[in-house]
Amino acid sequence: MKKLIIANWKANITSRDEISQYFSIFGGEFATDVVFCPSFVHLTDLIDKGYKLGGQNCFWEEKGAYTGEITALMLKDIGCEYVILGHSERRNNFNETDTIINAKIKQAIAQGLKVVYCIGENKGQDFQEIITNQLEAGLKDIDLTNIIIAYEPVWAIGTGDNCNPEIAKQVKQFILEKIGKDVSVIYGGSVNSTNAKDYLNDFDGLLVGGSSCDPAEFMKICS
Ligand code: PGA
Repeated sequence: MKKLIIANWKANITSRDEISQYFSIFGGEFATDVVFCPSFVHLTDLIDKGYKLGGQNCFWEEKGAYTGEITALMLKDIGCEYVILGHSERRNNFNETDTIINAKIKQAIAQGLKVVYCIGENKGQDFQEIITNQLEAGLKDIDLTNIIIAYEPVWAIGTGDNCNPEIAKQVKQFILEKIGKDVSVIYGGSVNSTNAKDYLNDFDGLLVGGSSCDPAEFMKICS
Protein backbone atom coordinates (compact mmCIF):
# COMPACT_ATOMS: atom_id res chain seq x y z
CA MET A 1 0.00 0.00 0.00
CA LYS A 2 1.22 3.52 -0.78
CA LYS A 3 2.28 5.69 2.13
CA LEU A 4 -0.16 8.48 2.90
CA ILE A 5 1.38 11.95 3.25
CA ILE A 6 -1.09 14.56 4.47
CA ALA A 7 -0.47 18.31 4.44
CA ASN A 8 -2.34 20.11 7.19
CA TRP A 9 -2.00 23.77 6.33
CA LYS A 10 -4.12 24.80 9.35
CA ALA A 11 -4.84 28.55 9.04
CA ASN A 12 -1.39 29.32 7.66
CA ILE A 13 -1.78 29.66 3.90
CA THR A 14 -4.38 32.37 3.66
CA SER A 15 -4.54 33.68 0.10
CA ARG A 16 -4.90 32.49 -3.46
CA ASP A 17 -1.65 34.29 -4.29
CA GLU A 18 0.18 32.18 -1.75
CA ILE A 19 -1.42 29.06 -3.20
CA SER A 20 -0.31 30.00 -6.74
CA GLN A 21 3.22 30.59 -5.50
CA TYR A 22 3.15 27.29 -3.63
CA PHE A 23 2.19 25.29 -6.72
CA SER A 24 4.73 27.11 -8.89
CA ILE A 25 7.24 25.13 -6.80
CA PHE A 26 5.34 22.01 -5.67
CA GLY A 27 4.50 19.53 -8.39
CA GLY A 28 5.05 16.14 -9.94
CA GLU A 29 4.09 12.60 -9.19
CA PHE A 30 5.12 10.73 -6.10
CA ALA A 31 5.22 7.12 -4.99
CA THR A 32 3.18 8.30 -2.01
CA ASP A 33 -0.47 9.33 -1.83
CA VAL A 34 -0.42 13.09 -1.25
CA VAL A 35 -3.38 14.79 0.40
CA PHE A 36 -3.77 18.53 0.89
CA CYS A 37 -5.92 19.97 3.65
CA PRO A 38 -6.05 23.72 2.99
CA SER A 39 -8.54 26.09 4.59
CA PHE A 40 -12.16 25.35 3.69
CA VAL A 41 -12.42 28.47 1.53
CA HIS A 42 -9.39 27.46 -0.52
CA LEU A 43 -10.38 23.84 -1.18
CA THR A 44 -11.70 24.70 -4.63
CA ASP A 45 -8.41 26.39 -5.53
CA LEU A 46 -6.68 23.02 -5.18
CA ILE A 47 -9.16 20.90 -7.12
CA ASP A 48 -7.19 20.93 -10.35
CA LYS A 49 -3.77 20.36 -8.81
CA GLY A 50 -3.89 16.59 -9.20
CA TYR A 51 -3.64 15.68 -5.51
CA LYS A 52 -6.18 14.38 -3.05
CA LEU A 53 -8.07 16.77 -0.81
CA GLY A 54 -9.18 16.73 2.79
CA GLY A 55 -11.02 18.97 5.22
CA GLN A 56 -9.41 20.06 8.49
CA ASN A 57 -12.66 19.56 10.38
CA CYS A 58 -16.39 19.04 9.80
CA PHE A 59 -19.70 19.36 11.62
CA TRP A 60 -21.57 16.45 13.23
CA GLU A 61 -25.00 17.03 11.68
CA GLU A 62 -25.75 16.29 8.05
CA LYS A 63 -27.31 19.70 7.27
CA GLY A 64 -29.69 22.27 8.70
CA ALA A 65 -29.85 25.60 10.56
CA TYR A 66 -26.25 25.66 11.82
CA THR A 67 -24.84 29.03 10.81
CA GLY A 68 -21.18 28.91 9.95
CA GLU A 69 -20.72 25.16 9.94
CA ILE A 70 -19.06 23.10 7.22
CA THR A 71 -20.61 19.67 6.88
CA ALA A 72 -19.15 16.38 5.72
CA LEU A 73 -21.70 16.44 2.91
CA MET A 74 -20.22 19.72 1.64
CA LEU A 75 -16.69 18.37 1.84
CA LYS A 76 -17.67 15.27 -0.09
CA ASP A 77 -19.49 17.35 -2.68
CA ILE A 78 -16.48 19.55 -3.32
CA GLY A 79 -14.22 16.55 -3.90
CA CYS A 80 -12.68 15.79 -0.53
CA GLU A 81 -11.75 12.20 0.16
CA TYR A 82 -10.47 12.79 3.70
CA VAL A 83 -11.23 14.79 6.81
CA ILE A 84 -9.01 15.37 9.85
CA LEU A 85 -10.91 15.00 13.12
CA GLY A 86 -9.84 15.15 16.75
CA HIS A 87 -6.80 17.33 16.13
CA SER A 88 -5.34 18.54 19.42
CA GLU A 89 -5.77 22.16 18.32
CA ARG A 90 -9.51 21.50 18.01
CA ARG A 91 -9.59 19.64 21.31
CA ASN A 92 -7.68 22.39 23.14
CA ASN A 93 -8.86 25.62 21.50
CA PHE A 94 -12.46 24.66 20.73
CA ASN A 95 -13.19 22.29 23.62
CA GLU A 96 -13.91 19.34 21.37
CA THR A 97 -14.51 16.29 23.53
CA ASP A 98 -14.28 12.66 22.48
CA THR A 99 -18.11 12.61 22.44
CA ILE A 100 -18.25 15.52 19.98
CA ILE A 101 -15.48 14.02 17.88
CA ASN A 102 -17.28 10.65 17.87
CA ALA A 103 -20.39 12.35 16.44
CA LYS A 104 -18.30 14.09 13.79
CA ILE A 105 -16.57 10.84 12.81
CA LYS A 106 -19.95 9.12 12.45
CA GLN A 107 -21.22 11.89 10.18
CA ALA A 108 -18.05 11.91 8.08
CA ILE A 109 -18.14 8.13 7.64
CA ALA A 110 -21.85 8.30 6.75
CA GLN A 111 -20.97 10.68 3.91
CA GLY A 112 -18.23 8.40 2.61
CA LEU A 113 -15.19 10.35 3.82
CA LYS A 114 -12.04 8.72 5.15
CA VAL A 115 -11.35 9.99 8.65
CA VAL A 116 -7.91 10.84 9.94
CA TYR A 117 -8.53 10.53 13.67
CA CYS A 118 -5.86 12.35 15.70
CA ILE A 119 -4.90 11.05 19.11
CA GLY A 120 -1.98 11.63 21.44
CA GLU A 121 -0.88 12.53 24.91
CA ASN A 122 0.45 15.81 26.27
CA LYS A 123 3.74 16.21 28.12
CA GLY A 124 3.72 14.39 31.41
CA GLN A 125 0.59 12.40 30.61
CA ASP A 126 0.42 8.62 30.54
CA PHE A 127 0.08 7.87 26.83
CA GLN A 128 -1.55 4.50 27.48
CA GLU A 129 -4.34 6.04 29.53
CA ILE A 130 -4.95 8.99 27.19
CA ILE A 131 -4.86 6.93 24.01
CA THR A 132 -7.06 4.20 25.45
CA ASN A 133 -9.71 6.79 26.35
CA GLN A 134 -9.44 8.55 23.00
CA LEU A 135 -9.77 5.28 21.09
CA GLU A 136 -12.63 3.91 23.16
CA ALA A 137 -14.72 7.08 23.28
CA GLY A 138 -13.80 8.60 19.93
CA LEU A 139 -14.36 5.41 17.94
CA LYS A 140 -17.37 4.12 19.88
CA ASP A 141 -19.82 2.28 17.58
CA ILE A 142 -17.81 3.13 14.48
CA ASP A 143 -16.86 0.74 11.70
CA LEU A 144 -13.11 1.10 11.25
CA THR A 145 -12.93 0.48 7.50
CA ASN A 146 -12.40 4.15 6.65
CA ILE A 147 -10.51 5.17 9.76
CA ILE A 148 -6.86 6.18 9.76
CA ILE A 149 -5.32 6.82 13.16
CA ALA A 150 -2.84 9.70 13.40
CA TYR A 151 -0.59 9.39 16.43
CA GLU A 152 0.34 12.97 17.24
CA PRO A 153 1.92 13.51 20.65
CA VAL A 154 0.65 16.99 21.55
CA TRP A 155 4.06 18.10 22.83
CA ALA A 156 5.59 17.33 19.41
CA ILE A 157 3.15 19.44 17.38
CA GLY A 158 4.72 22.59 16.02
CA THR A 159 7.59 22.48 18.53
CA GLY A 160 10.45 21.01 16.48
CA ASP A 161 10.64 18.31 19.17
CA ASN A 162 9.57 15.25 17.14
CA CYS A 163 8.90 12.00 18.95
CA ASN A 164 11.73 9.49 19.01
CA PRO A 165 10.79 7.09 16.16
CA GLU A 166 11.42 4.00 18.33
CA ILE A 167 9.06 5.30 20.99
CA ALA A 168 6.49 6.27 18.35
CA LYS A 169 6.71 2.71 17.01
CA GLN A 170 5.93 1.33 20.48
CA VAL A 171 2.91 3.62 20.73
CA LYS A 172 1.76 2.44 17.31
CA GLN A 173 1.96 -1.17 18.54
CA PHE A 174 -0.05 -0.18 21.59
CA ILE A 175 -2.70 1.45 19.38
CA LEU A 176 -3.00 -1.64 17.19
CA GLU A 177 -3.27 -3.91 20.23
CA LYS A 178 -6.00 -1.73 21.70
CA ILE A 179 -7.96 -1.64 18.46
CA GLY A 180 -7.42 -5.34 17.79
CA LYS A 181 -7.78 -4.81 14.04
CA ASP A 182 -5.51 -3.88 11.19
CA VAL A 183 -5.97 -0.11 10.73
CA SER A 184 -3.61 2.38 9.12
CA VAL A 185 -1.60 4.39 11.63
CA ILE A 186 0.30 7.51 10.61
CA TYR A 187 2.62 9.77 12.63
CA GLY A 188 2.46 13.54 13.06
CA GLY A 189 4.42 16.05 15.12
CA SER A 190 7.34 18.16 13.85
CA VAL A 191 7.91 16.01 10.78
CA ASN A 192 10.44 17.46 8.34
CA SER A 193 12.43 16.24 5.35
CA THR A 194 15.23 15.03 7.60
CA ASN A 195 13.21 12.91 10.02
CA ALA A 196 10.32 11.80 7.74
CA LYS A 197 11.98 8.60 6.60
CA ASP A 198 12.63 7.54 10.22
CA TYR A 199 8.89 6.96 10.63
CA LEU A 200 8.01 5.45 7.30
CA ASN A 201 9.37 1.96 7.96
CA ASP A 202 6.81 1.48 10.68
CA PHE A 203 4.02 3.97 9.99
CA ASP A 204 1.60 4.02 7.06
CA GLY A 205 2.17 7.71 6.48
CA LEU A 206 2.65 11.16 7.96
CA LEU A 207 0.51 14.12 8.99
CA VAL A 208 2.58 17.21 8.35
CA GLY A 209 1.80 20.70 9.61
CA GLY A 210 4.50 23.39 9.48
CA SER A 211 6.74 21.63 6.96
CA SER A 212 3.83 21.17 4.56
CA CYS A 213 3.54 24.95 4.17
CA ASP A 214 6.99 25.07 2.57
CA PRO A 215 6.57 23.61 -0.93
CA ALA A 216 10.20 22.57 -1.45
CA GLU A 217 10.37 20.96 1.97
CA PHE A 218 7.04 19.20 1.51
CA MET A 219 8.14 17.86 -1.89
CA LYS A 220 11.15 16.28 -0.22
CA ILE A 221 8.89 14.66 2.38
CA CYS A 222 6.51 13.34 -0.29
CA SER A 223 9.47 11.90 -2.20
P1 PGA B 1 3.55 20.06 12.82
O1 PGA B 1 1.98 19.83 12.92
O2 PGA B 1 4.05 19.20 11.69
O3 PGA B 1 3.71 21.52 12.55
O4 PGA B 1 4.14 19.63 14.11
C1 PGA B 1 1.43 18.55 12.79
C2 PGA B 1 -0.05 18.61 12.95
O5 PGA B 1 -0.54 19.46 13.70
O6 PGA B 1 -0.79 17.83 12.36
